[in-house]
Amino acid sequence: MTVDAATGRQDGDKMNAVVYSEYGDPSVFEQKEVDRPTPNDSEVLIDVRAASVNAGDCHLMRGSPFLVRFMYGGILQPKLQILGMDVAGRVEVVGKNVTRFHPGDAVFGDVSKCGFGGFADYVVATADTLVMKSADVSFEEAAVVPTAAVTALQGLRGAGQIQSGQNVLINGASGGVGTFAVQIAKSFGADVTGVCSTEKMEIVRSIGADRVIDYTREEFTEHRQSYDLILDTAASHSLFDYKRALTPEGTYVMVGGPVGRLFQAMIFGPLLSVVGSKNLRNLLMEPNKDDLAFVKELLETGTVKPVIDSRYALAEVPEAIRYLEEGRAKGKVLVTLDANGS
Ligand SMILES: NC(=O)c1ccc[n+]([C@@H]2O[C@H](COP(=O)([O-])OP(=O)(O)OC[C@H]3O[C@@H](n4cnc5c(N)ncnc54)[C@H](OP(=O)(O)O)[C@@H]3O)[C@@H](O)[C@H]2O)c1
Repeated sequence: MTVDAATGRQDGDKMNAVVYSEYGDPSVFEQKEVDRPTPNDSEVLIDVRAASVNAGDCHLMRGSPFLVRFMYGGILQPKLQILGMDVAGRVEVVGKNVTRFHPGDAVFGDVSKCGFGGFADYVVATADTLVMKSADVSFEEAAVVPTAAVTALQGLRGAGQIQSGQNVLINGASGGVGTFAVQIAKSFGADVTGVCSTEKMEIVRSIGADRVIDYTREEFTEHRQSYDLILDTAASHSLFDYKRALTPEGTYVMVGGPVGRLFQAMIFGPLLSVVGSKNLRNLLMEPNKDDLAFVKELLETGTVKPVIDSRYALAEVPEAIRYLEEGRAKGKVLVTLDANGS
């Protein structure tokens, strides 16, 4: 085995990866040399240039909420070895049924439905989870997009039925999903209010929010202002509070927050929606290449600019996840492998 001095990559059929074999805090991860995955006929092998960290990686690392162990994991021990759902890189090998991509193509996408694996030199993905990356968008920018931006889009356009001219509030506007949601809502012609903590107000203003509310000083649910659409990534209030803050025909979409609140919204949201014409609902994002392609266009036209808080090397994935879990990030946390390479 030899190692490329410039990239630190191994040749042959081995690769560097950040692996784990038990649930726990970020110390469960270690960087190891493992076998490079082999794509099947409908998959491609991607040479990963950048990956981003998502709350989903944190849940799978901890095996919490317990439901994720049924969905992806393994009840006692994780079945997945390598986490990382958002990747950008170059296609290295294509399966024989793949016609959309060729070796050398720059691509990005959400590989969660293909078994994760983005925190590694190489990952396999089914071709229908990927879109082409244009030269105007860097690997770093592309890698932070798939989960967070598509969640924001599906919450606003799908579940929220956003319309131009609406008053839209994004609760948790400074995070990964929130920073995309503010910009996507503006692109639909909405008047956007972002809610975040004091030190993150400037970033939310800078991405185009018309108003920013500091939740450490005021409660938007107690204002007289009401909203046509509330997209909530923090679930910091009760459903009754959110309902009160909606216009008579308004819609509330819960995307994230503490698990208990998510279950409350799943159970009681439909019940509370029966009375009157306000609508309270949950969103579970479904990776979808058409939605990703829609966001890609917003990126290429400069309508949406990813907010990248910090960059970590592959070996620093534990620190990257710890940082995200601490809630300090403004926007997205990135893992770079060889993001400046061609
Ligand atoms: N439904 C789905 O399919 C789906 C998909 C992706 C993500 N998610 C979920 O969505 C949530 C957000 O994800 P993310 O990637 O955006 O996480 P993130 O980057 O950590 O952002 C969360 C943001 O919430 C803000 N926040 C915390 N307490 C708040 C409060 N009381 N009021 C308003 N904002 C508050 C934090 O900013 P401040 O420091 O400013 O408070 C933080 O920036 C997570 O729970 C994640 O699991 C769900």
